[in-house]
Amino acid sequence: MTLADRVQYPAFHSRIMSADEAAALIPAGAHVGMSGFTGAGYPKAVPAALAARIERLNREGHGFRIGLWTGASTAPELDGALARVDGIDMRLPYQSDPTCRAQINAGQMQYVDLHLSHVAQYVWFGFLGALDVAVVEVAGVLPDGRLIPASSVGNNKTWLDQAQKIILEVNTWHSPGLEGMHDIYYGTDRPPHRVPIPMTEPHQRIGEPYLRCDPDKVVAVVPTHQPDRNTTYAAPDANSQQIAAHLLDFLQHEVRRGRLPPGLLPLQSGVGNIANAVLAGLDGGPFKGLAAYTEVLQDGMLALLRSGTLATASATAVSLSPEAMEDFNARIDFYRERIVLRPQEISNHPELIRRMGLIAMNGMIEADIYGNVNSTHIMGSAIMNGIGGSGDFARNAYLSVFMTPSLAKGGAISCIVPMVSHVDHTEHDVQILVTEQGLADLRGLSPTQRAAQIIERCAHPDFRPALHDYLARARRGAVGQHTPHLLDEALSWHQRFVRTGSMRGV
Ligand code: COA
Repeated sequence: MTLADRVQYPAFHSRIMSADEAAALIPAGAHVGMSGFTGAGYPKAVPAALAARIERLNREGHGFRIGLWTGASTAPELDGALARVDGIDMRLPYQSDPTCRAQINAGQMQYVDLHLSHVAQYVWFGFLGALDVAVVEVAGVLPDGRLIPASSVGNNKTWLDQAQKIILEVNTWHSPGLEGMHDIYYGTDRPPHRVPIPMTEPHQRIGEPYLRCDPDKVVAVVPTHQPDRNTTYAAPDANSQQIAAHLLDFLQHEVRRGRLPPGLLPLQSGVGNIANAVLAGLDGGPFKGLAAYTEVLQDGMLALLRSGTLATASATAVSLSPEAMEDFNARIDFYRERIVLRPQEISNHPELIRRMGLIAMNGMIEADIYGNVNSTHIMGSAIMNGIGGSGDFARNAYLSVFMTPSLAKGGAISCIVPMVSHVDHTEHDVQILVTEQGLADLRGLSPTQRAAQIIERCAHPDFRPALHDYLARARRGAVGQHTPHLLDEALSWHQRFVRTGSMRGV
């Protein structure tokens, strides 16, 4: 397929230009909304050209930086390239890039870590200021100027709608077969004009397959031919397999007790190796014809679709390793019948998550004995990635599950601690905790009942005695018996790690 086949809107032909020319249209200090959700569907040429321009100008003392808004994390060619030239003043709503992370933790880059379902509406509400420029990767342009989205949708609908000017990257690497896989819903509005979102089934289409775009705002069309960049997942290790096994046993138990239907409820799965292991564990198990209503489709989901364990999958991005991407492109007709890609305000919408009753399964950094979960911070202060969609899902799910190995950093850290050093998900939003040691079902339990379960079932045996000891002493010495804590000791495990490099020696 040639570029002319991909850019069928005649008026755009005169706006085709190089990435350098397009990057020159982005002013210093601009809020720039870029496409991208994981290493999928992010612009691949303009960010690099912008980074080169910023580097040149800053050498001359200009202090050129931008505010960078995206769907979620992106790839080294976007976040990494701009951060390396110190080109990002403020970043939102999620990132996982090592250079960005280092700059945020050094206090050089401002970071606004947002629930992913909130971003679009915050922009419509004007909470984040004006969006100056959108840089959006697409798979093609229709004769009437509408856009065929690429491998992620993210916040693109909002960027195209809200930005004063638009730069399109048309990436001929994307399969033309993506056309028809997307469902862009235009029925959202601002309060008090909101109406129910008309979706009751995960696979339901409620919108249109294309992104609308005011052609007059398009100032540049940049052709590219570059692959998405997503990492290959590690084969599940023993811990991940154990976690998956505990969770699968629990789901079967819930079906037997009549608390879940035999076909379960729609699955949401966080990204990463544990999530991939859980998906792998579902394959070959007793469940067939399941549905996923999630944020990101990773390799494990494709395998489930092929085997029939999963009948359909809804997400906002297809985030595949290069090997899985080959399969995806080769069988795109098969996948298009089963996959729907939506804007992230819909993939993560609290109304829909609550209505459809999701089983939300996400990773965490640490949990405390009462069930509060930290998904984002190391030792209370350093950001790892961000809350992403975990809050959207956990708060509104039918069942909210958080998973982690019981130990981190070669055993120096217990992921079950007396008090979390940062709270993303409170005890009220966490129902099930799983480590390789076991699964704690916290539903209907008081804080001290939860503590007994979490320590016995989830903590590593090396740290269990110290946790029991903390709880026992807290019950004797705290000012109240509801959620007993020893305030001068609650974070001492973290302090010990900061001081000595280990939480051991309690
Ligand atoms: N204390 C300190 N560091 C810890 C830790 C703890 N209790 N637990 C894990 N870590 C470190 C690991 O050592 C690792 O560090 P490294 O990168 O230097 O090796 C890092 O945190 C990531 O841990 P890992 O075990 O590889 O877990 P993961 O890839 O499953 O990621 C989260 C776990 C929590 C970071 C990840 O799930 C996340 O970012 N979650 C928030 C967003 C989210 O849930 N998105 C999905 C919603 S749709």
